[in-house]
Amino acid sequence: MTEPLTIAVSKGRIFKECLPLLAAAGIEPRDDPDTSRKLILDTNLDDVKIVIIRASDVPTYVQYGAADIGVAGKDVLMEHGGEGIYEPLDLGIARCRMMVAGKPQQAADTTRLRVATKYVRTTRRYYANLGKQVEIIKLYGSMELGPIVGLADLIVDLVDTGNTLKANGLVPLEHIADISSRLIVNKASMKMKHARVRALIDKISTAV
Ligand code: ATP
Ligand code: PRP
Repeated sequence: MTEPLTIAVSKGRIFKECLPLLAAAGIEPRDDPDTSRKLILDTNLDDVKIVIIRASDVPTYVQYGAADIGVAGKDVLMEHGGEGIYEPLDLGIARCRMMVAGKPQQAADTTRLRVATKYVRTTRRYYANLGKQVEIIKLYGSMELGPIVGLADLIVDLVDTGNTLKANGLVPLEHIADISSRLIVNKASMKMKHARVRALIDKISTAV
């Protein structure tokens, strides 16, 4: 039997938006990760498996070859750094923007500002490029709370409709990057499983 091709996907938004693209490549998962507790999903193809992992873990699985292919947000890829990974295709799904946000009356350059985010590396790079000194506070979620409770002056987070910011009395202030999900491929798999990986990229690319 041929060695399986493993695709790493996170559940929720990315899994849902990926389904039509996988279908275009002839791949149909046998389970729904939102209702099943399985972490390895069989598909209609015996030699293709889907592993369900945290969104921010996808590049790590692909980097180490635990998955041949993955679907990851550009936000997560910028934070990971991209070692050991090719990024051949923008899938155009899970689109949003990475932004600096804060209170509407936030003064610009008073003191050394505190910025709360889960995107520490990206935030550090962004302010370094601007030549601004900031203190970065690492959070794992609910960044919008930071400025409300006085933990931070600003946050760096993803914004789509802007509803989450608005509901918490915050406004978008600076645009850092446009975000969408990318197909990523382990560098060794690109060589060793070239024909199958290439065929998959081509079919998904046509569907995009
Ligand atoms: P983790 O579980 O690793 O903390 P997460 O909870 O951020 O990740 P999701 O909310 O499923 O995982 O987001 C997955 C990806 O979808 C993000 O990395 C980003 O690229 C994109 N995304 C996040 N929020 C939005 C949004 N509001 N609109 C569109 N795309 C989004
Ligand atoms: C993301 C992001 C923002 C929100 C922005 O959270 O972290 O909080 O979406 O979207 P909006 O501008 O349309 O309101 P998500 O919904 O993924 O929740 P989670 O990261 O806490 O899972």
